[in-house]
Amino acid sequence: MQPTNAATASDPRLRGGKSYHAPDWVVWQGDCLAAAAAYPDDQFQLLLTSPPYPGLHGFPLRGAAYHAWLHERLAAWVPKVRAQTGVVVLVYKYGRTDDGWFDLDQLILLKEIEQQHGLKLVDLYPWDKLNSPPAGSHDRHDRDEWEITAVFARSPDYFYRPVRKPYSPKTIAKNKTGNPRQADVLGKHTNGHARLHPQGARQGNVLRISSSGDQGRPRVTGGSFPRQLAERFILQHTRQGDGVADPFCGAGTTLAEAVRLGRWGVGVDDDAVAVETAVTWLAQLTGGRFVNGVEDVSYSHKGQGPVNPVPELKNSGISVF
Ligand SMILES: C[S@@+](CC[C@H](N)C(=O)[O-])C[C@H]1O[C@@H](n2cnc3c(N)ncnc32)[C@H](O)[C@@H]1O
Repeated sequence: MQPTNAATASDPRLRGGKSYHAPDWVVWQGDCLAAAAAYPDDQFQLLLTSPPYPGLHGFPLRGAAYHAWLHERLAAWVPKVRAQTGVVVLVYKYGRTDDGWFDLDQLILLKEIEQQHGLKLVDLYPWDKLNSPPAGSHDRHDRDEWEITAVFARSPDYFYRPVRKPYSPKTIAKNKTGNPRQADVLGKHTNGHARLHPQGARQGNVLRISSSGDQGRPRVTGGSFPRQLAERFILQHTRQGDGVADPFCGAGTTLAEAVRLGRWGVGVDDDAVAVETAVTWLAQLTGGRFVNGVEDVSYSHKGQGPVNPVPELKNSGISVF
């Protein structure tokens, strides 16, 4: 299925915003609350997004006002995710409270999301940013190094397929010499040898991903997540041809990975600079052309299914499926 999107730049649903279309992706400029109306329910297999962080990077809302604002937008978008198989992934961070404590609201949000949007929490993946900036000296706590990545599903039948990573040379060497108790195997033994899975080892639920040197990914104001993070959840929860939505798309990281992996993507951002950054990058990645002020992207793809013009990420070692 391709992006179904008949709205135009003058569509009242966008409240004056713009939209940019290509065969495998669409980016809307405007409030994602309004843009949600352009899609019927059950359109997307995955919603993968990072909402603005409360009180950080210039976003003014915090506390109960922030939660109300976010829930209103999630209520518009969650039904667009397939009820049977769909998955919702949120990457987010809160600052400390005014008194310097850990802000429990970020954990309470998880419960609220379950209660208000008919979702169940599948897992939390702490994202260890590896290259998080030094943050001065704190006299009562250590510096923040991780963000929450929360994975929710609409039903117990949600689509999940483990994304495997290459075995370490040590594991492979051990396997050659025979080690029946070798961990991380299929559980079958042949002639006393553990049999390694042909697609590699299972991964754990801690994301250890640096966002520096992220192969040309442009940045926007506020946090943006690395391509490898998007790659992991797209491969884990979608098949080729599925739709992926990012209602707070920033530089377009989710869409860039969706298209590279043969999925199609829809993004929204209310910031004109972020949208221009995303559209310019996506057009470049997908062999198209974007000219300032022109609303429909001229796109060189000839329509034989999704293109895959972007080289595989060197550091992930994961092949497309
Ligand atoms: C944390 S950033 C997302 C970054 C993105 N994941 C990336 O990799 O670049 C949050 C984004 O939400 C956008 N935003 C804020 N309010 C919005 C709204 N009402 N609708 C859509 N986007 C909004 C901000 O402009 C910002 O780009």
